[in-house]
Amino acid sequence: MCRSVCLLALLVLISPTADALDNGLALKPTMGWLHWERFMCNIDCDKDPNNCISERLYMQMADVMVKEGWKEAGYEYVCIDDCWPSRQRDAQGRLQADPKRFPGGIKKLANYVHSKGLKLGIYADVGKNTCAGYPGSLGYYETDAQTFADWDVDLLKFDGCYMDWTLVGEGYVNMSKALNKTGSSILYSCEWPLYEWEFKQPNYTAIREACNHWRNFADVYDSWSSVKSILEWTASHQDIIVPAAGPGGWNDPDMLVIGNFGLSHAQQESQMALWAIMAAPLLMSNDLRDICPRSKELLQNRHIIAISQDPLGKQGYRTAKVDNFEVWERTLSKNQRAIAVLNQQEIGGPRGFVIRAAPGWKICDPQCEVTQILPQYKELGVQTLHTKMILSVNPSGTTLLTVTPISSNITGLNKLYWRDTVKRKHTIL
Ligand SMILES: *[C@@H]1O[C@H](CO)[C@@H](O)[C@H](O)[C@H]1NC(C)=O
Ligand SMILES: *[C@@H]1O[C@H](CO)[C@@H](O)[C@H](O)[C@H]1NC(C)=O
Ligand SMILES: *[C@@H]1O[C@H](CO)[C@@H](O)[C@H](O)[C@H]1NC(C)=O
Ligand SMILES: *[C@@H]1O[C@H](CO)[C@@H](O)[C@H](O)[C@H]1NC(C)=O
Repeated sequence: MCRSVCLLALLVLISPTADALDNGLALKPTMGWLHWERFMCNIDCDKDPNNCISERLYMQMADVMVKEGWKEAGYEYVCIDDCWPSRQRDAQGRLQADPKRFPGGIKKLANYVHSKGLKLGIYADVGKNTCAGYPGSLGYYETDAQTFADWDVDLLKFDGCYMDWTLVGEGYVNMSKALNKTGSSILYSCEWPLYEWEFKQPNYTAIREACNHWRNFADVYDSWSSVKSILEWTASHQDIIVPAAGPGGWNDPDMLVIGNFGLSHAQQESQMALWAIMAAPLLMSNDLRDICPRSKELLQNRHIIAISQDPLGKQGYRTAKVDNFEVWERTLSKNQRAIAVLNQQEIGGPRGFVIRAAPGWKICDPQCEVTQILPQYKELGVQTLHTKMILSVNPSGTTLLTVTPISSNITGLNKLYWRDTVKRKHTIL
């Protein structure tokens, strides 16, 4: 019990003022697509031209993102992960793209992606090599930062393989400075804490000053056990990591694997809902050229995206564990709250959760207006603190609500509130 109360106190003390990296980027969690989980290090373009890591893959994703409503929904960055470069640097010591798989080069690819109104992300590593063994940036931070700037790249994912852990922090800070020195706006995605946790508790104040988001925990896989382990890690470290998040810098629980093979639809709903609650970057790793309509609809659900992108920028966290349910809540702007109830019982059918048991329900004193977003959109009307409302939650699924308190002051807040609600209802219908 004290855990959530103390955390709240901490959030109030620390949150909006903790210094973020001052590059004007990632004021809301980054949205886009990243190749790794789905396409990994597939470099065999002779055998598998459609799925290998090549300029074609990113051009096709960019095309689909514009045509199929992804861009309109907010997904903006098309990101390259490992295995793009040539095994050797060029004569000037610069990284170069594999000439066979990227015949046009990265600059041309960036131009193409920009022509679609999207942004391009690239990948490098703080150490001697990338995780897949390509050239790392150690000793070349300024050269590589300048190369990426010259190519008009918009985001750098900087991995942490092949690096002495005692130098990881220094390396990430040096690259942050090198990016700044180029004068270009390049969003900086780090894995600094992930590579330190094994040895010591990372300094999140320093990380937030250097990075726009940072990975804390193991790579996501296309499985429910992987998604669950990320949630459990996050909840069990939330006192440390949640206060570090806010506009300009976010905890990164890794990619969305929705639309692939491993998650049931209910589990996909859980990943989407909880990544929104965690104010996580929404970087999909899937094949947008071939995705099932239900997964697409979930990924483009504007009510969930609105929670993710809420302008207050406060990360949510787990507030209760009862009877094999987990409650996660996020404070939103305009006194709203998102409440997600995850049913961890992986047997049987949907189970009922008494909403009054959610700690955040207390904002319904005296009344609140409730909207269910998952599993189906439903306006649940005005409820009170003492409501008997019971939510149905699917096994390994999540029921997601937004709750808006209604003041008893009819002449003041309430009037404003009703004006807002009427507007909202009209846009929904
Ligand atoms: C570089 O850092 C300074 C000081 O923090 C900041 O004002 C400036 O906008 C940064 N430039 C870029 C390109 O990020
Ligand atoms: C970071 O930069 C400092 C100052 O230039 C340098 O002394 C240090 O060796 C660099 N560390 C790494 C890991 O590059
Ligand atoms: C953490 O980093 C901040 C900012 O760089 C620094 O001021 C502070 O002393 C560091 N804290 C510890 C415990 O090292
Ligand atoms: C009701 O709200 C209005 C406007 O916010 C305020 O001026 C008024 O004092 C409030 N009345 C009560 C009884 O709280």
